[in-house]
Amino acid sequence: MVTLEQFIADRQQEFEGATGAFSKILRDIGLGAKLISFYLRRASLSGILGELGLTNIQGETVQKLDHLANNLFLRLLSQNPHVAGVASEEEEHLIATNSQGKYVVLFDPLDGSSNIDVGVPVGTIFSIYKRVSPIGTPCTEADFLQGGRAQLAAGYVLYGTSTLLFYTTGRGVHGFTLEPAAGEFLLTYPQVQMPPRSTYYSFNDNQLHEWVPALQRYVQDLHSRNQATSKPQSLRYVGSLVADFHRNLLKGGIFLYPGTTKKPEGKLRLLYEGYPMAWLTEQAGGKATNGVKPLLDVPPTSIHQRTPLFLGPADEIDRITAFLTENVPVETL
Ligand code: AHG
Ligand code: MN
Ligand code: MN
Repeated sequence: MVTLEQFIADRQQEFEGATGAFSKILRDIGLGAKLISFYLRRASLSGILGELGLTNIQGETVQKLDHLANNLFLRLLSQNPHVAGVASEEEEHLIATNSQGKYVVLFDPLDGSSNIDVGVPVGTIFSIYKRVSPIGTPCTEADFLQGGRAQLAAGYVLYGTSTLLFYTTGRGVHGFTLEPAAGEFLLTYPQVQMPPRSTYYSFNDNQLHEWVPALQRYVQDLHSRNQATSKPQSLRYVGSLVADFHRNLLKGGIFLYPGTTKKPEGKLRLLYEGYPMAWLTEQAGGKATNGVKPLLDVPPTSIHQRTPLFLGPADEIDRITAFLTENVPVETL
């Protein structure tokens, strides 16, 4: 029975500096997760479901629990001496906090908001970088725009049938389950590897007609492969990236959120959805791209920039790339 804090303490050397900063930042994220889990599970009893009546920088209506989760993480992280600043899906601009802090944190406080009121799992996504601006000065945008491969840690919380926290620091993906009786996250999924065979495929079918023809051909190819096998891939899509990703991580599955003719850049945000999930995917033995290049190599230009996102086992991701670069696999023709 290993707690999250003990697990991190035993691996201090994995997080540069071994100053205990990472464990303190992850402890705050874990505390936020415990509190959000508590609020979520009784939201319909305490009248905090539904919309707040505001629209955020994404142009989306803000759910009361989006607002609650955002404020919770802002409070927890801004009082952490190791954090120099944060960027949130719910905040238009980055927020400089402790100028003596050495790290910056990006987060999607509540992912899958459309599912909050209907009992479908939602999540939190986080990504941690070491700042590049001088300590003692306010953090700058450059601290947040270092690119996916500069991440020091990344992970998610899934508020599902149980509350799970999965993260990586570049040495594998490790998963923990909240034990409410103890208020502790306990190690339950050490060194997670994504099965190489895809058993699920996840995408929003209502946009298929707006995809590029090459991707439509990939889906046709997937359907015809399904008809030719005794183990067809099943469509599973709940509309929460964290929930769809977590199922595919454990069981093997492909997640697609491409751009469309109307929105070529797609919907999902590169810095606090794409990069963390892409790193977790690679660390678990899968591949993550924007369709044609590794997502972690897609250069960041702004905090809320969007990206097409493909996550899954290497063979399916390679097949998508082949279609998109017109190197269609011969056996498909
Ligand atoms: P968020 O609630 O943080 O805005 O994220 C929602 C995202 C992501 O969780 C999910 O994969 C995607 O939106 C679903 O989008 P569609 O409803 O367009 O399928
Ligand atoms: Mn999200
Ligand atoms: Mn969100």
